[in-house]
Amino acid sequence: MAKEYPNSEFRGVDPDNCEFVIGNITETLPYKDDTFDFIHQRILLVGLANSNWDKCLKELLRVLKSGGYIEIIDTDYKNVINTGPLMDKMHILLCWNLESRDIPAGIPLQLEERINRTGYINLVETRLFLPLNHSSKADKLMWQDYYHGVLNIRPLMVKYNPE
Ligand SMILES: C[S@@+](CC[C@H](N)C(=O)[O-])C[C@H]1O[C@@H](n2cnc3c(N)ncnc32)[C@H](O)[C@@H]1O
Repeated sequence: MAKEYPNSEFRGVDPDNCEFVIGNITETLPYKDDTFDFIHQRILLVGLANSNWDKCLKELLRVLKSGGYIEIIDTDYKNVINTGPLMDKMHILLCWNLESRDIPAGIPLQLEERINRTGYINLVETRLFLPLNHSSKADKLMWQDYYHGVLNIRPLMVKYNPE
């Protein structure tokens, strides 16, 4: 909204232990070295191109205190399993679309190498499956999220494959 209405001023209301600042993780964040004990980053997949991931990991490490922890959670669009033919087609198109913009659609499987190369230590990796089969509350929420995400990028997908 702030971008759409540059003549207006915006104030956020949040609990008093929460602060938002504007920053770009691929550049220099507005924090000094060794600021945070714990950093959480989730679902940056569609925002970061190949070279941005290395910059991002370096910048997170810079603002982390020595002995601190970083948690990175992201989605692997390249290795979906038990999908039907339509979902397969959609994923191929989605990955192709991301990769045509140099965005790695399977970033989670690259993170170990990238993280080690950046100089992090004690890497722990956990893989979780996100079912989309409407059998539990989490599955239903995941499906709603997924469905609306796909609806939003429909014009882009149609451009590449009208089918
Ligand atoms: C899919 S949302 C995820 C939001 C939240 N982390 C979550 O898990 O619900 C991706 C977020 O990353 C932000 N983002 C994308 N590229 C970024 C960058 N280069 N630096 C900082 N934030 C970025 C977007 O503005 C957006 O808020």
